Amino acid sequence: MPSSSAPSSLSKKKVLVLGATGGTGKYVVSFLLEKGHSVVAVARSEEKLTALLSKIQPEPKDYSQNLVMKELSISDLNPSEMQELAEGCDSVVSCLGHTMTLQGMYQDGYFVSSVTKLVCQCMPKGCRLIVMGSEGVAKPDGSDPVRPLSERFILFLLRWLVPPHADNELVAQYLYKHQDTVDWTVVRPTDLIDGTVTEYDIFDTSEGSLFGSGVATRANVADFMVRLVLEEQATWNNTYRHAMPVLKDKVLPVAESSKVDCTEKKDR
Ligand SMILES: NC(=O)c1ccc[n+]([C@@H]2O[C@H](COP(=O)([O-])OP(=O)(O)OC[C@H]3O[C@@H](n4cnc5c(N)ncnc54)[C@H](OP(=O)(O)O)[C@@H]3O)[C@@H](O)[C@H]2O)c1
Repeated sequence: MPSSSAPSSLSKKKVLVLGATGGTGKYVVSFLLEKGHSVVAVARSEEKLTALLSKIQPEPKDYSQNLVMKELSISDLNPSEMQELAEGCDSVVSCLGHTMTLQGMYQDGYFVSSVTKLVCQCMPKGCRLIVMGSEGVAKPDGSDPVRPLSERFILFLLRWLVPPHADNELVAQYLYKHQDTVDWTVVRPTDLIDGTVTEYDIFDTSEGSLFGSGVATRANVADFMVRLVLEEQATWNNTYRHAMPVLKDKVLPVAESSKVDCTEKKDR
């Protein structure tokens, strides 16, 4: 898969962003606005979203023309409310994830997959759905390389003990079953970290070990999700639609200046 190329579409898009206050979602909102697109951002707290956006953009421009904030809990919506939210949107970007508290892990249930199902049923035809998964979620058709037994055992435990992981798997399973009716991409970042947009690689399947095989900044994940929103229809259809690309930050070679000069040391 191509790793990095400028998005090709120049037309103005309307995008519904779910999980807009998240570590990734806030960048998705910010990057789309910077590029002049129209955003409907859903958050449980508008105050939190405003504060986060002003941190990313120290000198915020007036985005009032292009930004609509909806303060609500996305998991409480009924179909007609969801349909209204997604009306006229070219893409829906979901950066929803469970908060790492007891409530978020065990009491919020399988809310990410429930919301995903509702979005699929309510978004306009032809709208792209771009959701965040994780590298630990395998392609449901079994086309990822088989993981070693030890990693499969850990994933088995995660599936039964940690609902957020099972929830992400349910999302992928649902989307695979609804390829005929939904245009989707599941972006699978490796271990998430904070940081800026840097160079990153996109892989067709999961590469390397489940643990310690790389990191991805949330800003890079957002950058890629925005690229998917803006990607030309032909590229989207051929490369990303119904795909589960894995994202990892590029491992850059050690800078020449920081290399130790061994010759010099030996001569001493
Ligand atoms: N951690 C990792 O290393 C890792 C690696 C790969 C993939 N992932 C995946 O990445 C995704 C999210 O990453 P992130 O770090 O950007 O997430 P995050 O910062 O935790 O953001 C999660 C978003 O979901 C919202 N949310 C949480 N519980 C909710 C609920 N019950 N109802 C409505 N909204 C709710 C949060 O809203 P509030 O701000 O209101 O709480 C927030 O906007 C998850 O799917 C996760 O599995 C994580």
